[in-house]
Amino acid sequence: MSGLIRLDDTWALDHIDAKEIDGGMREAPLQLQLLVDRKGAGSEYTGWLNLPVDTPDSVVARIEHVAAGLREQSDTVVVCGIGGSYLGARAGLEFLAGVQSRSETDSLPDILFAGNSLSSWQLRKLLDRLAGRRFSVVVISKSGTTLETAVAFHILKTELVRRFGTAEARTRIVAVTDSKHGTLRSLAGDEGLVTFDLPRDVGGRYSVLTPVGLLPFAIAGLDIRSMLQGAAEQRTASLGSPAATNDALQYAVARRLLNTSGKSIELLTSFEPCLHFVGEWWKQLFGESEGKDGKGIFPASAEFTTDLHSLGQFVQEGTRSLFETAVDVPAPADVAFLCDSDSPDGLAYLNGRSLSAMNHDARAGTLLAHHDGGVPVLQLTVPDVSERSFGAAVYFFEVACAVGGYMLGINPFDQPGVEAYKRNMFALLAKPGTEVEAADIRLRLAGRN
Ligand code: PA5
Repeated sequence: MSGLIRLDDTWALDHIDAKEIDGGMREAPLQLQLLVDRKGAGSEYTGWLNLPVDTPDSVVARIEHVAAGLREQSDTVVVCGIGGSYLGARAGLEFLAGVQSRSETDSLPDILFAGNSLSSWQLRKLLDRLAGRRFSVVVISKSGTTLETAVAFHILKTELVRRFGTAEARTRIVAVTDSKHGTLRSLAGDEGLVTFDLPRDVGGRYSVLTPVGLLPFAIAGLDIRSMLQGAAEQRTASLGSPAATNDALQYAVARRLLNTSGKSIELLTSFEPCLHFVGEWWKQLFGESEGKDGKGIFPASAEFTTDLHSLGQFVQEGTRSLFETAVDVPAPADVAFLCDSDSPDGLAYLNGRSLSAMNHDARAGTLLAHHDGGVPVLQLTVPDVSERSFGAAVYFFEVACAVGGYMLGINPFDQPGVEAYKRNMFALLAKPGTEVEAADIRLRLAGRN
């Protein structure tokens, strides 16, 4: 019962005291129990634990139905959201791009993203791209008040109305938001938009297996039932296995002990670019969950071999403050390399090797070099590029993150620090009710200049 995602910590063990490992392996199941019993900090936001087994078939079927309708009427779907209302969907879409059959791919709409920055240039380019396209918008915001998403949605909705008229525009918008509260919920009610509820007890960064991720995945022709099934399999393993065979707990323990041994940065690496946005999602999950009370490991990510030509020098010989978590997934397709013995590019020695074989050797050589250079390396294996594996990986990281947060003594489900920049920004933007702070902030900024 070890689950789909496997951990190999061999190349980290020489940085961790054996007695501490024993202690960690005793403590982690206690923290897991606290999580499962909903007795730990932030337990009101642990609804994600049961999503793979509790999501009603009616919800899955409705997601598939609405997705089919959007596919029918659109050549482009813009997914509008930020943070937990964006990164999980993007991670799955990029990881799984290409797994759909060719006949499906030809009829699938392009999926574009908006609402994840305040960049006018980004939005201008998106609007230009949408000219002449039959586009629809999926707007995702739990609070319904997030500025980046709300502003982009306002502009996109105006464009929909201009292009298609009010009545048709309303059929081209789907909102994923809180079931009762927030501006987006009221707007959706007033305009009669199709909506999906975001469960109250699931926070943004743990929401990828709700309609937040499932709707964009279904629009992209992905098998969301298989994704939930993979997550359910991983759930059985991660919640039900003893520590000795529980890879999620072992990952939580290893990162905790590497942190106490002085490593303050975790670099998530991979040799497959399709994992790039999984890294972005993972950074939010761990960064927002752990980084509080002056604690936490700074989550960073790199894509090899690309970044070996930029960050590789630092990883090999720079400040010894990081450990590496290398995620491996077999490429679903291979490319043969054929080369004549007298080829002038000097590559004849690679004749008959495949690109996957080259990537495999590059990976093995790199991780060995990093280990030899004093970087502890944890290796995680995802079985394949499939919906099932993606669902499993999501669940694996969520459990490891929550248990690790409890081991660290923090609430892994809140994000109080995110409000600080918003307070200043809203004051400067003259949001009603922020006048006093605005005056103070302007004085302070003037003093700095
Ligand atoms: O994880 C989180 O809670 C945040 O990243 C939010 O998801 C993000 O700020 C977007 O919030 P909302 O969904 O309310 O627009």
